[in-house]
Amino acid sequence: MKLFQQHIEKVVAATTHALALSAYDGVWIYSGHPENNFLDDMGPPHSINPHFKWWVPVPHITSSVLHFIPGQKPTVYLHQPADFWHKVIDNSQDKWAQHFDVKVIGHYSELPDFKANKNHAWIGSKELQPLDDKDTNPKALLDALHFARIQKTDYEINCIRQANITAMKGHEAARLAFYDGCSEYEIHMAYLQACQHNEYEMPYGNIVALNENPSVLHYQFQSREHIPSNELKSFLIDAGASHKGYASDITRTYSFQQDAFADMITLMDEKQQALCNQAVAGQDYVDLHLKAHLYISEVLHQFGVFKCDAETAVSQGLSSTFFPHGLGHYLGLQVHDVSGHVIDEKGTVKSPPEAHPFLRLTDTLRENAVITIEPGLYFVPMLMKEIAGHKDVNWDKVAEFQPFGGIRIEDNIVVKQGGIENLTR
Ligand code: GLY
Ligand code: MN
Ligand code: MN
Repeated sequence: MKLFQQHIEKVVAATTHALALSAYDGVWIYSGHPENNFLDDMGPPHSINPHFKWWVPVPHITSSVLHFIPGQKPTVYLHQPADFWHKVIDNSQDKWAQHFDVKVIGHYSELPDFKANKNHAWIGSKELQPLDDKDTNPKALLDALHFARIQKTDYEINCIRQANITAMKGHEAARLAFYDGCSEYEIHMAYLQACQHNEYEMPYGNIVALNENPSVLHYQFQSREHIPSNELKSFLIDAGASHKGYASDITRTYSFQQDAFADMITLMDEKQQALCNQAVAGQDYVDLHLKAHLYISEVLHQFGVFKCDAETAVSQGLSSTFFPHGLGHYLGLQVHDVSGHVIDEKGTVKSPPEAHPFLRLTDTLRENAVITIEPGLYFVPMLMKEIAGHKDVNWDKVAEFQPFGGIRIEDNIVVKQGGIENLTR
């Protein structure tokens, strides 16, 4: 509980500071509530407002409101309706609750008059918006809060660590299922079972891709087809887990045989680890992303895909055809956590370089930020076409590797002064 107490102390201090910067006296933070699909009485699972989750570590809470005025104990209006359709869990006696003044409400009508408190901001999606537009999700307040969320407390790092431990159980089960010849769907189910998660608890949709499917970066299906073992080639799985609202985000790639693709994975793993170890406080993440281009080009050169050396491949932009996404992103309450393109609490933007528009993180790394390092190389047919016939590419080698789809290896890293903590290994 000490960890959580320290966490709340930081959240209180950061919110107090953010309110001062944005000239507000207090803030309401709404958890959000489930919404129905168009013309339907059912909807997707509710995804809670991350700002609410930052304070209250219960991801299933809905229709509840947090009220904070600097110098006062925060209040949570906890929605516990009389409802015989759904199970209502009473969280008001949980340990976290001792840090709040918890008021249980049975109905919206018991919520306070939001307008009675002067000079307040409202943070929440637009479904319930009791204050004026200018005071709803005001940019100056959000910029400061988002910036404060970059550097994690020990409690948050521990949550992400737990989410890694859970996900790695799933990854091991998935690996075994792949070598047993299971379908993508069966591998996916083995993953969930090992994590003891249901689909709603996953931080994002699992990417479970066999053979050429890893070349679809966010491959979203799980085929029920059993591929005969003499046709099985490769397996990429990008899957996480959650703990108290915090995410892990991990990718592994395997080859079915001990072949050249297996050796390529081994070399990529070495390069990925070298990149992880450079993700120390003060490292410019754009530079690290550019270094990843060099490393990946070295792999492609070593395996005969690039006829030219790595530097030449990067300078010609060839590496971007094989590595078309960014090296990684912040990780936390959101899988792609906020503030990746800002460099200060005022929200000053540092855009990715023009040639690297998908890079999600551009700042210099800060101590206790949690980030992903996820270099990849892929044989994407659509992108291969764009450079068809290029003289520095060995097209026979491309044809050899294309049926394997590609490689991505992704770990979750805590940035430290002069070092890192790899939460995944
Ligand atoms: N799983 C999405 C990503 O790696 O960013
Ligand atoms: Mn991922
Ligand atoms: Mn990721």
